[in-house]
Amino acid sequence: MAEPDIKKGLAGVVVDYTAVSKVNPDTNSLLYRGYPVQELAATQPVEAVAHLLWTGELPSEDQLSTLRRTERENRALQPDVKAAIDLIPLDAHPMDEVRTAVSVIGARETRGTLNVMDAVGTPQENLERSIRLFGELPAIVAYSQRRRRGLEPVEARDDLDYAANFLWLTFGEEADEVVVDAFNRSMILYAEHSFNASTFTARVITSTLSDLYSAVVGAIGALKGPLHGGANEAVLHIFDEIGSAENVTPWLDTALAEKRKIMGFGHRVYKRGDSRVPTMKAALDTLVAHYDRPDVAALYDALESEFVARKGIYPNLDYPSGPAYNLIGFDTLTFTPLFVAARVVGWTAHIMEQQASNALIRPLSAYNGPDERHIEGYVPDT
Ligand code: ACO
Repeated sequence: MAEPDIKKGLAGVVVDYTAVSKVNPDTNSLLYRGYPVQELAATQPVEAVAHLLWTGELPSEDQLSTLRRTERENRALQPDVKAAIDLIPLDAHPMDEVRTAVSVIGARETRGTLNVMDAVGTPQENLERSIRLFGELPAIVAYSQRRRRGLEPVEARDDLDYAANFLWLTFGEEADEVVVDAFNRSMILYAEHSFNASTFTARVITSTLSDLYSAVVGAIGALKGPLHGGANEAVLHIFDEIGSAENVTPWLDTALAEKRKIMGFGHRVYKRGDSRVPTMKAALDTLVAHYDRPDVAALYDALESEFVARKGIYPNLDYPSGPAYNLIGFDTLTFTPLFVAARVVGWTAHIMEQQASNALIRPLSAYNGPDERHIEGYVPDT
């Protein structure tokens, strides 16, 4: 029998069309609905980019204020979500809190749909669910960090834009403009990236006609892994291990001898550099200057140049975003939850796209287990 043509990890397999974003590794570019991501990051608030990803177009002023109104109305930490998070042990990973919180929101938002055929919702309902979830997540991520620090949640501010309010909710003080700008850029860069593992997970779940929240919960599970979203946390662990720029060479000698993967480097699609890195690195540079931390830039540059020279593997978005979030004051454990808050936009855009043109995603496998065998003594019914 002919050997099946197995595409391990689905590498190189084109599964479907998408109009949400285009990743082009040859030109090192990433387009959201046709717009280069660096142009969006330099000019737009994340709320406008969310509108673009969900609907296909940047919002008019009226559309942006409508979206912002709904987003602001949903900013509070809801009692059901807080109660569920409080049940989770403090030494559990915050991604477990975020995953649980979205499950609770899903049960609340889809209650009454006891016939599973009804849970999927209409396109309009799913757009509204997406905006509400986008609005609700910052309070969850912020509370997760605050409770680890023994702090009470902070009331959301409806006079601040999304990024500024997110920082307010986390730190209880208004952030400087340069910090808000760098954070807004990171949220835009993280918002969407075609058929990555978590988005594909969301699409697989959606393809069974399950609801939007179930798909997002599954996507959060996929994002937690260090080969995907968990890498931004892992970058900080590496920075902590290395300590300072002078230690890069001996540290790298040992790490490579031990065949360790260097987190924040490499990408399944981009082999000559991640299109998002220059924009995020520029944002990191503004933070380095703002907080007067040239040591961070020195370590960043030393590890990048030596690893690229030795292995020819380039940094991905998690490499500059990890130290940027650290400088802003986020705990390392909060980095992947921040990725969730941003990527929920892309996930929900893909969920709606999958719903609009659905086919159950169900690949085949090639069996390589034992040949047929039988239970000793088993006598079939006649
Ligand atoms: N450190 C050391 N070696 C690496 C790295 C790395 N970061 N990335 C790839 N390689 C090596 C592999 O060991 C492998 O070498 P080999 O052929 O000698 O065995 C070769 O490069 C190919 O790597 P694969 O892992 O097979 O390539 P793949 O396309 O499957 O991997 C991945 C992409 C998973 C992202 C990988 O580069 C990696 O593990 N990076 C570290 C984790 C990370 O930063 N993830 C974030 C992804 S981007 C994001 O989510 C925003």
